[in-house]
Amino acid sequence: MSFDPSDAPLRLGVAGLGRGFMLTAPSILAHPGITLAAAAAPRAETRAAFEAQFGGKAHDSVEALCADPAVEAVYIATPHQMHAEHVAAAAAAGKAVLVEKPLAVSMDDGARMVAAASGAGIALIVGPSHSFDGPVEQARAIITSGRYGRLRMVQALNYTDFLYRPRRPEELVTDQGGGVIFSQAVHQIDIVRLLAGGQAHSVTAMTGNWDAARPTEGAYAALIDFEGGAFASLTYSGYAHFDSDEWMDQVGELGQAKDPATYGKARRALATVHSAQEEAALKRRRTFGAEAVPPPAPHHEHFGPIIASLEGADLRLTPQGVHVYGHTERQFLPAPAWPAPRQGVLDRLIAAVRHGEKVVQDGRWGLASLEVCHAILASAQTGQRVALHHQVAA
Ligand SMILES: NC(=O)c1ccc[n+]([C@@H]2O[C@H](COP(=O)([O-])OP(=O)(O)OC[C@H]3O[C@@H](n4cnc5c(N)ncnc54)[C@H](O)[C@@H]3O)[C@@H](O)[C@H]2O)c1
Repeated sequence: MSFDPSDAPLRLGVAGLGRGFMLTAPSILAHPGITLAAAAAPRAETRAAFEAQFGGKAHDSVEALCADPAVEAVYIATPHQMHAEHVAAAAAAGKAVLVEKPLAVSMDDGARMVAAASGAGIALIVGPSHSFDGPVEQARAIITSGRYGRLRMVQALNYTDFLYRPRRPEELVTDQGGGVIFSQAVHQIDIVRLLAGGQAHSVTAMTGNWDAARPTEGAYAALIDFEGGAFASLTYSGYAHFDSDEWMDQVGELGQAKDPATYGKARRALATVHSAQEEAALKRRRTFGAEAVPPPAPHHEHFGPIIASLEGADLRLTPQGVHVYGHTERQFLPAPAWPAPRQGVLDRLIAAVRHGEKVVQDGRWGLASLEVCHAILASAQTGQRVALHHQVAA
């Protein structure tokens, strides 16, 4: 549902004012149903920048943020490995949570988070993820309408320079949640699970770890089969020189028009750093306090080309909507215009907190997507098909 304008704005606190926050901030600021009420950040200059720009209190710990009576719900945008501790703090304070993807790094942490949220009776939503994108929701509605028969297959691919964007050291260590599986595959998994109904059965995958200077998974190909017989093929390269946004009308992942003149920018910038510390500092230059929050992007976000094949039609998702290729006719269905690309996930957060609505991408859903991430790694390592046991329906 979209948010009810008669509701009082949701007072949101943010834990972690890094890159993830910067990407969601334009949508938070554009949303009439949300007030940015407070934050938590370890660095004094970041806290000062937050208070100067938004007026709310910036705390030096997530516990203090969660205890702040000005805060109704907490958006946890700290590094993956901290999500469990920070969700526990929010649950202890009885505050609803929107936690960045992936839910956690380990399945044990993820299961503890789900239990903490359910024990405290708080909403736990995992996002933003690209499964909340307008055209994905639209494709899901077309599939569930039954108009074109059963879903048979989903093809998702994405070619990016992900591995050459500046990283914290642990983002290049798989066991600590580094590499493309935890940060990128989880988007594709969320999308295909949503389109195919959520209940994946098994995963067969191969991964690429091709750059000794950045020794983590940078690429993968995975096959997933679903209850009902549909299957999905997921391909991702974070080593790419080709940019698959060329196939998305030159619109970038975040819904911005892509300037072809920026070709090679990430690799050029990375070539200027000479240590892990310099690289982490380069990453910090793209976070809150170092850069201004940009205006909302004009298009929907996306996660690369996606084609869903049904008995009676193929659906091709674009940043503007969904092309429907039927037996004898084709049409383009524009996605509803949103004031900012991440409106969908924020609407869901408000609906969950204000009206107790269930959100598909909740903690158990996030745990199921995390299970698929681990299954990709396990299948690539063993050469075996990996059965899944924590899946939930959409
Ligand atoms: N949905 C998306 O499109 C998207 C994009 C980027 C990142 N993310 C997610 O955001 C999360 C953070 O990644 P990032 O790339 O923004 O990293 P980042 O390093 O840019 O940001 C993390 C921030 O957390 C802060 N932090 C660390 N410890 C803290 C603590 N104890 N209390 C409060 N703040 C603390 C850091 O100072 C930093 O500003 C990850 O889970 C990542 O997957 C999501």
